[in-house]
Amino acid sequence: MIDAIKEKLQEIEEFAIDSQDRLEEFKRRFNGKQSEVRALFGRLKEVPNEQKREMGAALNELAQKAEAKWKSAASGLVQKKSKASTNSVDLTLPSYPHELGTRHPLSLTLAEIVRIFERIGFNISEGPEIEDDWHNFSALNFPENHPAREMQDTFFIEKNPDMLLRTHTSSVQVRVMENEKPPIRTLSPGRVYRNEAISARAHCVFHQVEGLYIDKDVSFLDLKETLAYFVKELFGPKTKMRFRPSYFPFTEPSAEVDISCFICHGDGCNICKKTGWVEIGGSGMVDPNVLKSANIDPEEYSGFAFGMGIERITMLKYQINDLRLFTENDVRFLRQFKGII
Ligand code: PHE
Repeated sequence: MIDAIKEKLQEIEEFAIDSQDRLEEFKRRFNGKQSEVRALFGRLKEVPNEQKREMGAALNELAQKAEAKWKSAASGLVQKKSKASTNSVDLTLPSYPHELGTRHPLSLTLAEIVRIFERIGFNISEGPEIEDDWHNFSALNFPENHPAREMQDTFFIEKNPDMLLRTHTSSVQVRVMENEKPPIRTLSPGRVYRNEAISARAHCVFHQVEGLYIDKDVSFLDLKETLAYFVKELFGPKTKMRFRPSYFPFTEPSAEVDISCFICHGDGCNICKKTGWVEIGGSGMVDPNVLKSANIDPEEYSGFAFGMGIERITMLKYQINDLRLFTENDVRFLRQFKGII
């Protein structure tokens, strides 16, 4: 019996535990209820009575040694594992490529428009998208129940017909006129809403930027010069501009603004529908009634205003033929604007 115990002790001591599998094998053979050590305990009953004490003690010692070896091997393996994971960082590996983000084309265009007007002293003003009738229509000289209100395909708020989704950012200019004293030179960019079916050329949600300049002796010439400067900055120095007479309730006289087609330079292409001109927005001298609504004396002050669609300008500038691309968030489209600021 004593020889069997010694033999088992030697086996235990020589058993190399260098992996999780070996650790489990060790436990199965020497620690558990079904282990070889337990089996030796079973043989105690064959031992003569006078030797039982001695053998029992030797067996207990054997079991304790097996237990101690298992414990220290188990904690050693855990340490080894965490050491291995820190060592596994390969500092020589090249890093993941840093993908440059892209700005949305509408943001690019707006940023450029803002930069151009900031250079000549315009500041930026913003206002609410849910507007009241006064700021979107009445203060802008839209007569009550006048079909001019229909021009704008308004979304009214059902529960309160006095409230609506603004149809243009002219509403912001009313707010500026109410709150500030002339001289006023402000640019109002923002999202606007009109009840239009979504197609390649129209959307019910789009963006505008409108400009307003009010001071003493502001003339139509100032309007023309300001816009001529703007189109040359944005579309290139060769760009020509023309005015076509138009109508807006809030400006008198009013003009639609066209620029010479910067793609074919007048030779005729699809963008200008072979006319050599493309429309970019509306403009005019602020109607005296609008100034009066905002408590500005039309005898003392005059002003001009203009407005344009950011989608339209962006489509012209980057030759994009479908407005829906702006809202679909297709990365194949958006990635093409990488690197532009
Ligand atoms: N607010 C007009 C529109 O949305 C554009 C415009 C602004 C026209 C200023 C003239 C002057 O259609």
